[in-house]
Amino acid sequence: MAQVKFGLIGCGDAGGFHVMSSKDNPDSSVRYVAAHDINDKVLARFSRLHKLTPYAELGKFLASDIDAVLLAVPHYLHASLAKRIAEAGKHILCEKPMATTLEECDEMIAAAKKASVKFMIAENHRFLPAHKLVKQVIEEGLIGDIFLGRAYEGAFVPSRVFLDADNWQFTFDKGGGGVVADQGCHKFATLNWMLGEVDKAQCWLGKALNSPPNKAEDSAIVLLRYKSGAMITVDVSSVTVHPLTNRMELHGTKGTILEDHAWENPVSIFSSHDKAQVKGEFYSPKVEHGVYPKYYLISAREEDAHFADCILKDQHPEFTPEQAKQAIAVTLLSYLSAKKGAPASMSELATIAKTKGTKSILDGLDRAIQRNYDAMHWT
Ligand SMILES: NC(=O)c1ccc[n+]([C@@H]2O[C@H](COP(=O)([O-])OP(=O)(O)OC[C@H]3O[C@@H](n4cnc5c(N)ncnc54)[C@H](O)[C@@H]3O)[C@@H](O)[C@H]2O)c1
Repeated sequence: MAQVKFGLIGCGDAGGFHVMSSKDNPDSSVRYVAAHDINDKVLARFSRLHKLTPYAELGKFLASDIDAVLLAVPHYLHASLAKRIAEAGKHILCEKPMATTLEECDEMIAAAKKASVKFMIAENHRFLPAHKLVKQVIEEGLIGDIFLGRAYEGAFVPSRVFLDADNWQFTFDKGGGGVVADQGCHKFATLNWMLGEVDKAQCWLGKALNSPPNKAEDSAIVLLRYKSGAMITVDVSSVTVHPLTNRMELHGTKGTILEDHAWENPVSIFSSHDKAQVKGEFYSPKVEHGVYPKYYLISAREEDAHFADCILKDQHPEFTPEQAKQAIAVTLLSYLSAKKGAPASMSELATIAKTKGTKSILDGLDRAIQRNYDAMHWT
């Protein structure tokens, strides 16, 4: 089978998921062959473990015999490194979130177009079989027109990540914000795919853990109003005490979908539609799934294989960079609303993008984060 040779930049947690997802599968169209990381020790250990050629120098890595690069580095580096990869003529698969501002998203899109390379954001939730099933059920009309819903992602990130000011994750400057930027982007990309474009957002940000001042929110609630009229609540937290999981509820004029990634069979459908597999009672079609970390490996395998196929067949990725940028727009809209203490609209965001630039939204965001950690007993 034809294979695409991938190199990895950033030998951390996400890089590990991608490499592992195709490692022992000779039939995969994906083959990781090389790695680069600024941390020499991390690079050496990771490359040895996964039998990759280590490159301490980015220039030599990009000049090597790879077709595509998976970029899995801190968020503030996505745009500059994606541009370097494009200039080297390699295809770019970049981890979520696309970037920290809308302007960076535009620069990445322009660089990939100019170099005529394929470009996709590795939004694994777009490639989860459970989410593909939900999307199919909606498209078949089985739950009718969606008017209400909620989505949740909770992750118990080790508290050292939050408490260490030198760790880039969830920081304003290197992470582009806290849990809304880091985990909310999954929810926004998935919901936009199912519901279309967001019109307005209202957002509350909180710190349940007393993290250093350079760290942003660890928990948030975002209320979204879609152009379709659908009203959705998105709850995200990085300090909930359970293994990483996701949940979604969508209610329409003909039925309901309940989805929970902690269930072995994650999608449950209730439909009054004539075409429903079972009418008038909840049913759960079989879908490939496994509780965390299995569903991460499944989705990483699917997204890498899709991107490799696009390269081999010269096709456009089904998750477009423009859609990924829309998820960043919802993140920034949420932050704008938190700062205002009131709902914010996409037209306000567009005005900021045209005038001050969307980086300005993060300035002073710290003051909008409610501190509730004094009432929490974590030890
Ligand atoms: N899809 C998912 O659910 C998921 C899960 C985890 C992380 N991610 C994403 O993956 C990306 C990386 O996250 P992570 O958790 O793996 O982070 P990490 O901190 O574990 O790893 C990042 C790696 O990048 C390296 N690095 C930093 N600067 C570099 C540079 N200039 N050049 C080369 N290497 C550099 C670091 O040394 C480190 O090894 C982020 O975009 C994150 O949001 C996605």
